[in-house]
Amino acid sequence: MAVLRIVRYGEDLLRQPTKEVGKISSKIKKLASDMIETMYANNGVGLAATQVGEGYRLFVIDVAEENEPANPLVFVNPKIVKKFDPINSYEGCLSFPGAYTNVRRYANVVVKAKDLKGKPFVLEATDGTLLAKAIQHETDHLDGILFVDHARNRFEANAELAKHELPPIEDENLLNEDEMENIIQIAEVKEAEEEKQKKLQEEQDAQTAAAEIHE
Ligand code: NI
Repeated sequence: MAVLRIVRYGEDLLRQPTKEVGKISSKIKKLASDMIETMYANNGVGLAATQVGEGYRLFVIDVAEENEPANPLVFVNPKIVKKFDPINSYEGCLSFPGAYTNVRRYANVVVKAKDLKGKPFVLEATDGTLLAKAIQHETDHLDGILFVDHARNRFEANAELAKHELPPIEDENLLNEDEMENIIQIAEVKEAEEEKQKKLQEEQDAQTAAAEIHE
């Protein structure tokens, strides 16, 4: 096994198209195991073949918590067949060292892929979990799409990129996700309103309790 060099944002390799993996050769198996080692060496939760300069439709993910045993998952020729319920996701990427920004994702996805034995599987990731977000992030990499292409606020994203000495957003690659954005904003307004109501109620309860003590 070997730790591979990770391609950085700004290098054309990140935008290169990928080809389907045919036979799962020993070369592909070695690539997958090197990618897992590279992901761990960099404390990542996912890594796509394009990020190590290999144009194959292949990515690895491990969303296990620190106190849990390692659980590397290999996705060969992944395809997201269903995605729904837009949400905000605060993300980074190993190709963007240190930079994080808010992007648009779906809370729920269904992905079809093959494992390293060539066995097809279907995985459903729901509720906006790290796994659900990582599957979208890594599948995007295989299509030359980067997380900043989903940025909710390009000014915020550009400030963050500049802070970490990375090139700015590539405007021509920004995705038009107005419909997703509207849905996310409506949910955020509703959530803020509920939070406000909850605080008001807590204040009222505290006042009532204080009044009872005085009686
Ligand atoms: Ni990434």
